Amino acid sequence: MIPEFWRTRSIQRVNDAPAAVAVVDQRRLPFAIQTITLQRSGDAIDAIQQMVVRGAPLIGVTGAYGIALAAQEAPNDQRFWGYLAERAGLIANARPTAINLAWGVNRMMQELRHHAADINQTIATAWQLADAIADEDAATCNSIGLHGLPLIEGIAKRKNGAAVNILTHCNAGRLACVAWGTATAPIYHAHHAGIPVHVWVDETRPRNQGARLTTWELAEAGIPHTLVVDNAGGHLMQHGLVDIVLVGSDRTTRNGDVCNKIGTYLKALAAHDNRIPFYAALPSSTLDWGIRDGAAIPIEERAASEVRCIEGVVNGAVHQAEITLPNTPISNFGFDVTPARLVSGLITERGICSASQTGIQTLFADRYANK
Ligand code: MRU
Repeated sequence: MIPEFWRTRSIQRVNDAPAAVAVVDQRRLPFAIQTITLQRSGDAIDAIQQMVVRGAPLIGVTGAYGIALAAQEAPNDQRFWGYLAERAGLIANARPTAINLAWGVNRMMQELRHHAADINQTIATAWQLADAIADEDAATCNSIGLHGLPLIEGIAKRKNGAAVNILTHCNAGRLACVAWGTATAPIYHAHHAGIPVHVWVDETRPRNQGARLTTWELAEAGIPHTLVVDNAGGHLMQHGLVDIVLVGSDRTTRNGDVCNKIGTYLKALAAHDNRIPFYAALPSSTLDWGIRDGAAIPIEERAASEVRCIEGVVNGAVHQAEITLPNTPISNFGFDVTPARLVSGLITERGICSASQTGIQTLFADRYANK
């Protein structure tokens, strides 16, 4: 049965005293919808590492809830803050590339320390803060959608009502966030506004987030889409079948370099060669002002088994199949960096800016003007 919260968001606090956090196991989608309840901070760490939850904004929110769980399970004495700090370190490092995770954890820790009260009050505040961060993510992604909508509207006008073809990579949709998604938010808004859109969905090996998650989301929303193999993008672009590329980001640096799922860079190169706009949609929690350019971003390397095996359904049951010889050497980098010069713009909750330090500073003057 589909849990009620799932219709509108991908993560939800449940229960009281002790509280817990419900998520849907994204490793099982689209073949099954199974809820998992995170009861301890270790469950949040496992869920992030095993990719029960994934996508930069959602792991940031899960990290925030992880701190609330840690506060709840911490010893109710002078060891409380030491325990919380130790768990914060573990949660923040559960996956290395998406900066949203450390952002969510650090924001929780800073605000909790700022409001430091007695332990029971601190636990209650932690839950309120995590709920607020989750709600904020949904509102932020909605704003990203509203700011990105004119890009699609403009193309639709030029095409005289013919469908706008959008190519996306991985899953930067509602499953990767609390709601709306980042790259998909402008698509949802365009669809709701009656603009005809069609989405080319890259399958996104090795874990197939495009094939398994993005197609599922678009089908659920009734948005026309077509699944393509990862190598098809260049061909589609050469033949005039892509009007715009919209992707998400796991970390965007001060100079506007965009780190995202492995393969994104190749799409940006093909888009550049074919003069097709390439935009990254991201909440400001994905901005890493502490890093000047993409060379310094830690790129996650995941298990060889993700490349060696492919998962799918045979006669209604989920199976794994090996696609290579058992002793084939394997490399599995999870992300790559698209240099700012290939990025037409960043779509954020405050508007669209150029992928540059000046562009980011223009939109976020209150945070970065003098830095
Ligand atoms: O490894 P994943 O599935 O967590 O990678 C997700 C992506 O690369 C998304 O494109 C990115 O997090 C942006 S999500 C709005």
